Amino acid sequence: MTLAAGYITDLDYIPGFYPHMSPTAIRYAASLNRVVPPAITDNFRYLELGCGLGQSLTTLAAANPQGEFVGIDVNPSHIETIEKSISAGCLKNARAIHSDFISLPGDIGTFEFISLHGVFSWVSPEVREQILVIAKKHLAPGGLLLVSYNAMPGWAHLQPIREILRQYAAMRQGDTTQRIRDALNYLVFIRDKKAKYFEDNPRAAAYVDGLLKQDLRYLAHEYLNEHWTSFYFSEVAAMFGSAEMAFVGSLPIHTNFWDLCVHPEFQDLFRTTSNRLVTESHKDFCANTAFRWDIYSKQPKMIEGIEGRADLIDGLYFRAIRNDIKLPHQSNLGVVTSTVQGPLYEILLKIISQNTLSLSEILRHPQLAENVPADILRAVDAGVAMGLFEVNAAPVAVLSEPIPKQPYVPLAFNQFVLENDLLSGRPVSLASPATGTGHTLGDFDAAILHELCSAGEEGLAERVLVQLTDSKRSIQKDGKPVTDDTLRREMVEQACAVFLTEGIPRLCRLGIIEPKPS
Ligand SMILES: C[S@@+](CC[C@H](N)C(=O)[O-])C[C@H]1O[C@@H](n2cnc3c(N)ncnc32)[C@H](O)[C@@H]1O
Repeated sequence: MTLAAGYITDLDYIPGFYPHMSPTAIRYAASLNRVVPPAITDNFRYLELGCGLGQSLTTLAAANPQGEFVGIDVNPSHIETIEKSISAGCLKNARAIHSDFISLPGDIGTFEFISLHGVFSWVSPEVREQILVIAKKHLAPGGLLLVSYNAMPGWAHLQPIREILRQYAAMRQGDTTQRIRDALNYLVFIRDKKAKYFEDNPRAAAYVDGLLKQDLRYLAHEYLNEHWTSFYFSEVAAMFGSAEMAFVGSLPIHTNFWDLCVHPEFQDLFRTTSNRLVTESHKDFCANTAFRWDIYSKQPKMIEGIEGRADLIDGLYFRAIRNDIKLPHQSNLGVVTSTVQGPLYEILLKIISQNTLSLSEILRHPQLAENVPADILRAVDAGVAMGLFEVNAAPVAVLSEPIPKQPYVPLAFNQFVLENDLLSGRPVSLASPATGTGHTLGDFDAAILHELCSAGEEGLAERVLVQLTDSKRSIQKDGKPVTDDTLRREMVEQACAVFLTEGIPRLCRLGIIEPKPS
């Protein structure tokens, strides 16, 4: 018998691809915290607990054909959807198991990576206990586990919203969709009538506007699960500690650098305390963190010395996110805005804007011979944290051939995604084996790509317009649907031109498209 233990199963969740879940992102975050991550060169295993509709699982399987990806979920409809994607995408290295966590087959073996996104805060205490049992038993020594959760204190002023939605929905009749719709209407009503809670918490009142833009399926899964809760970092660290696992870093990458998360006036404690459990909690207060992606390891092996990192860790290649970045470059990281500038970054941008290089290649690069390794490493990591560089799983080839006029999508999985998600209003994620992760396009760009691959550049905008009309998907300008035919045409023509000059070269570099075989 399956045991959802208070988790909603009568309504599917929404599909979504989360790049933090890629083995490469998890490995890099661990390595910059001086932990040796598992290799992903051959036969690694990856388990996703609560994989939902499986978009992350299947995209990552397509992008990492050398790994084996297993997803588990209690909702049979989710598993059915994943099985269709696996079969249509010809994925030999992915499988989905319909089971609750408690009934996970014991002989499933060990995994170098375990991930759970959108699960830990939303399940019962007993199910969380079971997750810890699975982690302890099935994470390979030196393996990495990624867990996301709603965090305190960022949820402090919002928790009553969840309680109002839950209580009101429980009183209503109808299915889950109807009940969340009614609860949302009631929430807006009491906000607009200036209930004292909203008057005293203006940020909570503003938050309601964001909820109105969300998909009802997301709202139901976020707010209506019986055991929803938010955690302080220290509580989660204690739980994983009891399962003999240690905190080894977090995502996004900038969260590993306290000076990129908190204002300078709070930084004294960080300078004087090396206890990470203390500094992480302090950081969450200074940044009012509402969501965390944390990485834990079982028996982590630590890296010695600066060069140790470059020598011990394979499969991480660095590249500038674009070829035309000009310094100084400003990054807004939420609480802190940081500026990248200086000669070291100028050289780094030059050497990794065309080629992808590994850390050891960067450290040995003749143009950096004047710089000490520690400074180079710090600049590379800070550049990634500030969104200037990206980390790939393999060297990404420099474009040697001209950009194809009629491209071809070689991966069956990507062909399936493009057909299946056409103009759905949701972003589309395509797998790139070169980077070991998925790359997300707007559904409109995906429709242009689809048309380009079907019949080339001739009459492209015209054909995209027909697709748009058939799908009834509107184009928006200034937040309003465009109804004027001439303006619609102009906007489509412009979107096609931008996609051809910027989108296509990028997809070529990522190996997502190739020249069509003759
Ligand atoms: C919010 S969704 C997140 C899905 C996916 N990880 C994502 O990010 O899109 C949580 C998922 O956990 C699954 N789940 C909840 N409790 C479970 C349990 N006890 N055993 C197995 N799966 C469970 C749900 O069915 C749901 O698909």
